[in-house]
Amino acid sequence: MKAGTMKNEITYTTPVIQKAVFPIAGLGSRFLPVTKATPKEMLPVVDKPLIQYAVEEAYASGIRQMIFVTGRTKRAVEDHFDTAYELETELERAGKHELLALARSIAPSDMTCVYVRQHRALGLGHAILCARPLIGEEPFAVILADDFMVSEHPVLAQMVAHFEQFGCSVVAVAEVPPSEVNKYGMVEGRHHVSGALELDHVVEKPAVGQTHSTTAIVGRYVLTPSIFKYLALIASSQTKGEIQLTDAILQSLQSESVHALAFEGKRYDCGSKLGMLQATVDIGMQHADVGLQFASWLDKRHLGT
Ligand code: G1P
Repeated sequence: MKAGTMKNEITYTTPVIQKAVFPIAGLGSRFLPVTKATPKEMLPVVDKPLIQYAVEEAYASGIRQMIFVTGRTKRAVEDHFDTAYELETELERAGKHELLALARSIAPSDMTCVYVRQHRALGLGHAILCARPLIGEEPFAVILADDFMVSEHPVLAQMVAHFEQFGCSVVAVAEVPPSEVNKYGMVEGRHHVSGALELDHVVEKPAVGQTHSTTAIVGRYVLTPSIFKYLALIASSQTKGEIQLTDAILQSLQSESVHALAFEGKRYDCGSKLGMLQATVDIGMQHADVGLQFASWLDKRHLGT
């Protein structure tokens, strides 16, 4: 890593980012009734669950340790990344080697999955704090699986490359309509020579009209371990309500630089039904088995034939 000229110059040994945190304890109430007994992270875009896309993105970014901050009713996620003896035995017996390889590829042998429980629904910042004992003093990534990314180079890999060059925390951002700023952590900042934004201010879900910014944080973070200090401070001083990661990032700006990266790629809000449907149509049209048929069906449907 090249030493930067940032406020927080830290030298890390390679590989720089080894661990990714996946906060998955949320209730998924926007997708009821399907999420009553099924984790929202297991909802599929065509034939693969959202959490698998997210883990694959982390793996393709060089990360090998996946830390899931989980909760009640999320057992299916653990099973998904575990060995499925019965299924594998049956597929082997039936000579279905391609399907067997597919089932086994979900958890490559050099990948470790670790699970930690978030006992209470106290927000994203609290979820990250639950992973603290598993991370220690390393920089790490956070992926929110319902922000589904499609890109030539994995979005997280783009962020890791930025981190390796500049050594400061990085958040992924995208432009959103002014009417939607109340759904996101919104950022303000100055142009940095890298093309990223050097943050001056972040605010979690401001009321419409309360910020001029339309640049929103969208579900990918590379964070320096000092974030835990700020999260712990908020946790100890706050008696009620959720602990927001955005608030800890804001506090960290007093002593560190944080960059917002407008990444190459397309983001789908798969925490909403509309985003899920859009992702399903786009990925469905590119799918190796059914893409051509599906696209032609859509065309005919559009023409009303
Ligand atoms: C979380 C974060 C928010 C971020 C958003 C991205 O909100 O708190 O800052 O902009 O994810 O999807 P949530 O969607 O969990 O309410």
